[in-house]
Amino acid sequence: MIGRNAHGVVAAAGWLGTVRELSPAELHHLHGDAHRTEGADRGAIVLGYFLRGQLCGIARIVPLKPGAGRRAEVRLTVEQPWQSCGIGTMLMAGLLHHARRCGVNDLYLRCHALNSRMQKIAQRFGARIGFEDCECFAHIALAGTVSCQ
Ligand SMILES: CC(C)(COP(=O)(O)OP(=O)(O)OC[C@H]1O[C@@H](n2cnc3c(N)ncnc32)[C@H](O)[C@@H]1OP(=O)(O)O)[C@@H](O)C(=O)NCCC(=O)NCCS
Repeated sequence: MIGRNAHGVVAAAGWLGTVRELSPAELHHLHGDAHRTEGADRGAIVLGYFLRGQLCGIARIVPLKPGAGRRAEVRLTVEQPWQSCGIGTMLMAGLLHHARRCGVNDLYLRCHALNSRMQKIAQRFGARIGFEDCECFAHIALAGTVSCQ
């Protein structure tokens, strides 16, 4: 993926930074209630994509409600200037790695039916995709999971 996005950011940026889990202190300092609280009460895992110390994107695995088994919902957000640089793809790779380690068997995500970037990412990681009205639903089945100790 070489080139520049609409903001002039070099598209290869997605391969230059690092993906890691955010600490509770980092989560606390994020701006906005949604970032701070969304899924936290349900044991969400939150990953950040850092480029030269700057947080450019966030990905979450949010376990589905109790009794739903080892199933979780995925949410991805890349800051607008950094979109289309490969960061969403890198975050998704990191999420799948964490999900496998934690014994998650099934990942689900939803996005707008016209959100081609999100759908391409889901397909790259083997999702089965369906559409209903204006929404796209994707399911990624994780085989051969290794549980956390
Ligand atoms: C959706 C989102 C997470 C994708 O992350 P991203 O870093 O922008 O996406 P990437 O750069 O990794 O590109 C993903 C795919 O889309 C393609 N792509 C990039 N820009 C594109 C564009 N403008 N139009 C169509 N496809 C595009 C890439 O080539 C790549 O496809 P490939 O795997 O076939 O090469 C990000 O754009 C975002 O945060 N959007 C707003 C929030 C949102 O929609 N979240 C999803 C709900 S879960």
